[in-house]
Amino acid sequence: MERKKIITRAAARIGIIGVLLILAVRIAPLGWAVGGLYPTTLHGDAVTGVRRDTSLPRGDCSHCHAMHGAPGGMGDFALWMENTNQLCFTCHSGSSRRETYRGSIEYESSIHEDDFLVRWPGPEPPARMEPEAKGKCVNCHTPHGWGDLDGLIPSLLFKREESLCLGCHRLAGPAQKEIETQMAYQFTHQINSRQMAGRHTAGEEMIPSTFSLQGRHVECADCHNVHVHTGVLHIRGTNQASGILKGVSFVEADYGMMPDTFPTFQPRDETFNIQFEYQLCFKCHSYWAYGSFPPFLSSGGGQETDQSIEFNPNNESSHNVIQAPNLNGRGEFVNGWRWDARMHCSDCHGSDNERDPQGPHGSQLQFLLKASWNVTTGQSSEDTSGHLCFLCHDFITYAQDADNRNTGFSRNNGQDNLHGFHSRRENNVAGRPIACMDCHSKIPHGINRLALLVTRTDNARYLGGTVLLRESDVPNWGPSGNWDKSDCTVECH
Ligand code: HEC
Ligand code: HEC
Ligand code: HEC
Ligand code: HEC
Ligand code: HEC
Ligand code: HEC
Ligand code: HEC
Ligand code: HEC
Ligand code: HEC
Repeated sequence: MERKKIITRAAARIGIIGVLLILAVRIAPLGWAVGGLYPTTLHGDAVTGVRRDTSLPRGDCSHCHAMHGAPGGMGDFALWMENTNQLCFTCHSGSSRRETYRGSIEYESSIHEDDFLVRWPGPEPPARMEPEAKGKCVNCHTPHGWGDLDGLIPSLLFKREESLCLGCHRLAGPAQKEIETQMAYQFTHQINSRQMAGRHTAGEEMIPSTFSLQGRHVECADCHNVHVHTGVLHIRGTNQASGILKGVSFVEADYGMMPDTFPTFQPRDETFNIQFEYQLCFKCHSYWAYGSFPPFLSSGGGQETDQSIEFNPNNESSHNVIQAPNLNGRGEFVNGWRWDARMHCSDCHGSDNERDPQGPHGSQLQFLLKASWNVTTGQSSEDTSGHLCFLCHDFITYAQDADNRNTGFSRNNGQDNLHGFHSRRENNVAGRPIACMDCHSKIPHGINRLALLVTRTDNARYLGGTVLLRESDVPNWGPSGNWDKSDCTVECH
């Protein structure tokens, strides 16, 4: 840093213009950036531009750099402040115009300020070498504006969209939580797809159409607000949004008393605090974003279904992403799960490699699942103990012949386990052993019927081509623990 000290001292003698000339020669791309792009940035603009000293026009370099002969110029590059974050805070102590940045207090408790590894690694722009680089705004932003072949990069950033984040969150990058590998899996959130590039803008979140049809997109910044969030992951068994999602925009869902309908939505910008993880997902995966016309899944499998309808807490059953516990003690669970737990979407959606960081970024499995789920799940001829359901539900109870288990699908006050019983039987319509999705919904989100059970009249996406229950509805829902053969009119009975 000796060199910068010399430059700083030189500033007093030859003035800012001289320094800038020297630096412009030293750092060629910046010379171009400052010369060409600065006036087109919000900092350099004659109307919106920076202003510290009211005697100078807006956007003047001297609001940040000391002029010849003037006092100040104490920091590197003859800046008014030694610490560039303190310089930013002189004007950015409060929240920004589009609220993505919530001010210095929130920033100072965020992980990108806090973690000692937050330091731009280069090569372009060059790696930050100064000892105090950790947590600085200038790891991601340049006050002068930076360009690429498409012109000025928005929000005074050095890189566009995911290429900024992946600059650090990549293999051999400074961040330990490496996301780049997941982005290369077969199924991803398509954050890096060319088709969705350039659609995200800061401050877009109040208008549903920005997330549907031609506007449909998803970027890291749609799910993470780097100025605010912490490094605290979600707590298993709850549905609360984690520290990692703090500060992101979302939509609130207000359900009345009706099952099987979408709620009333209220979009919330970054000034609000997200409470539940699903509120983030509903920004793009609900009626709010796309009305009655859900988009087609690019991974195949037809149209999306509306998660805000499926997880309606008034439905008879659902995984408790929103719903209050309703199993009343039934069920055999593993890995610390319980009948009265709440859930996150990301408990099921995430990488299928458990060593990867959490979150629905990418998976080798369709629908970004953490483990397999298909027509073989639960079939006695296969070992499916590693499949999705058995991350939480006891394999032996549901897919092996074991009696005296605590499951509602049983007979004689719970003594005969009908799950176990059926797992040894054939689905003689399909000519193969019975599978979980012969009775339960292929999309295991929620449905307005007991225990995610499906019948033949249900939407094909929920049936997935397999169903055992033949009638339009099951005539008697057996009381839990006392089901009888006559309750289901399937061919086998
Ligand atoms: C909003 C404050 C601000 C304004 C306005 C500003 N600069 Fe800077 N400038 C900085 C900061 C902060 C740095 C140090 C950047 C770093 O550490 O990466 C810097 C560094 C520089 C450098 C050193 C190269 C580098 O980026 O590392 C040059 C050259 C420069 N500024 C030129 C200019 C010129 C010319 C103008 C006016 C056209 C200008 N600056 C306006 C804040 C500003
Ligand atoms: C002298 C005051 C001043 C200083 C110092 C300053 N800014 Fe700004 N900044 C502004 C103003 C004014 C705007 C535009 C006003 C608005 O958005 O309403 C702005 C806008 C921005 C934007 C939004 C740009 C966009 O296109 O949306 C970013 C990002 C930003 N500043 C980052 C920084 C960083 C990083 C620093 C420190 C290196 C910094 N600013 C220092 C005054 C300042
Ligand atoms: C880890 C990278 C990173 C760091 C560090 C960072 N920012 Fe940002 N900043 C971003 C990204 C990404 C956006 C664009 C957000 C979007 O598109 O939704 C942004 C946007 C902004 C905006 C414009 C937002 C608006 O609402 O118009 C401001 C102002 C801003 N940052 C200021 C700062 C300041 C000041 C600091 C340091 C105190 C800082 N940022 C540190 C990545 C960063
Ligand atoms: C200059 C490097 C750098 C950039 C750029 C950067 N990050 Fe980070 N980020 C880090 C480091 C270092 C951590 C601390 C945890 C770690 O080592 O992974 C971190 C932590 C995080 C965390 C919390 C992870 C945890 O479990 O603690 C998230 C989420 C995150 N970053 C998202 C982003 C997003 C989104 C972007 C782009 C808008 C981004 N980061 C840009 C370096 C960076
Ligand atoms: C209990 C595990 C589980 C939970 C919790 C869960 N999902 Fe799913 N999700 C699945 C499975 C399994 C599939 C694949 C269904 C199939 O094979 O057709 C799926 C499919 C999807 C799909 C693609 C298919 C479609 O119909 O739209 C989306 C989008 C989706 N889930 C979003 C969500 C959201 C958003 C949440 C939280 C509000 C959530 N999921 C919670 C297991 C889960
Ligand atoms: C669709 C929303 C979404 C997108 C897009 C997204 N993330 Fe995440 N991310 C999440 C969720 C949800 C979590 C998990 C939070 C939790 O479990 O507490 C997460 C977790 C993380 C973590 C922490 C993982 C850990 O185990 O500590 C990092 C780092 C991260 N994301 C970075 C990124 C980066 C970089 C991008 C862009 C390449 C990105 N995310 C895109 C939703 C998203
Ligand atoms: C900003 C918008 C946005 C947000 C927020 C968002 N998604 Fe998505 N999601 C998308 C888009 C766009 C796709 C479609 C990508 C494609 O073309 O396959 C998608 C696809 C999916 C898929 C299907 C992937 C496949 O294999 O077909 C799942 C599952 C999913 N999202 C789950 C979630 C979950 C869980 C959350 C909340 C943690 C979430 N999404 C938040 C935009 C979003
Ligand atoms: C991440 C853990 C987890 C995974 C994976 C999971 N479940 Fe569950 N499941 C639970 C928990 C916890 C409950 C009890 C609380 C609730 O209803 O959410 C439950 C409840 C249920 C219920 C009763 C719902 C009701 O409201 O009556 C059924 C049926 C069910 N799960 C089937 C499945 C099937 C089939 C799969 C595999 C596709 C699966 N689950 C995957 C955790 C999980
Ligand atoms: C022959 C139809 C059928 C098959 C096959 C089936 N289930 Fe069930 N399952 C039911 C019925 C009926 C209930 C409702 C029990 C009640 O009344 O409480 C149920 C309830 C559940 C519950 C709620 C908790 C409990 O134990 O009562 C879970 C979890 C569950 N099933 C998981 C599975 C899994 C995992 C598979 C595949 C290994 C599977 N089921 C296969 C019919 C079936």
